[in-house]
Amino acid sequence: MQIRLDKLLAHTGYGSRKDVKTLIRKGYVTINDVVVKNDDTKVDTELDEITVFDENVHYEEFVYLLINKPKGYLSATFDTKYPTVLDLIPISYGNGLFPVGRLDIDTTGLQLITNDGKLAHEMLNPKSHVSKKYDVIYSGSLIPNVKEKFKEGIDINGEYVTKPGNIELLEPGHAIVTIEEGKFHQVKRMIKHCGGEVTELKRISFGKLELPNDLEEGKYIEIKLADIV
Ligand code: URA
Repeated sequence: MQIRLDKLLAHTGYGSRKDVKTLIRKGYVTINDVVVKNDDTKVDTELDEITVFDENVHYEEFVYLLINKPKGYLSATFDTKYPTVLDLIPISYGNGLFPVGRLDIDTTGLQLITNDGKLAHEMLNPKSHVSKKYDVIYSGSLIPNVKEKFKEGIDINGEYVTKPGNIELLEPGHAIVTIEEGKFHQVKRMIKHCGGEVTELKRISFGKLELPNDLEEGKYIEIKLADIV
């Protein structure tokens, strides 16, 4: 793949586009052992050997990050009113990142962030049956046949019946819910339909991905495609 040198370096974590332009102009960057001072030089990501401060640059086209989303942050790329999950990611990861699917502003937990549109599309496609698991704290008491209701699918707005889900009752007021869809407020509405009110919602898994126990809210880790699919 052909890409501009400054874009590649910004994408690889050497700073913002402005930072890397400075590195290039100061002569810290080489392509195939030759110092290059033009930031718009095109490089071939498969063939060219690039160094910064004599260190080889390893270019990855796609970035995969798993963040523990805190409350108060939107699962969006930009908002005028609220901070977004992308505000928790250094800009050195480059442009083009977006959250895969949405969690409500008051939901915490596992949020995948990437610039891989194809993967996001696959993971969000209902035909892919990617399951999402939520740790749910609720008030009120759930109907006795809540497990069957979840298995049958629940009418969440008078016109949509969810696909079958699963609820594991841990203790009164605490359950684990697994669903394969992502309709607006889906878990909250499924619980409401069964007599409860969600007070805390945390996503703990998304397909193969699990939220690491030691990942603090607001922190992220880099992961690989193989961890996801
Ligand atoms: N279901 C909800 O109600 N909210 C979320 O954020 C995710 C699933």
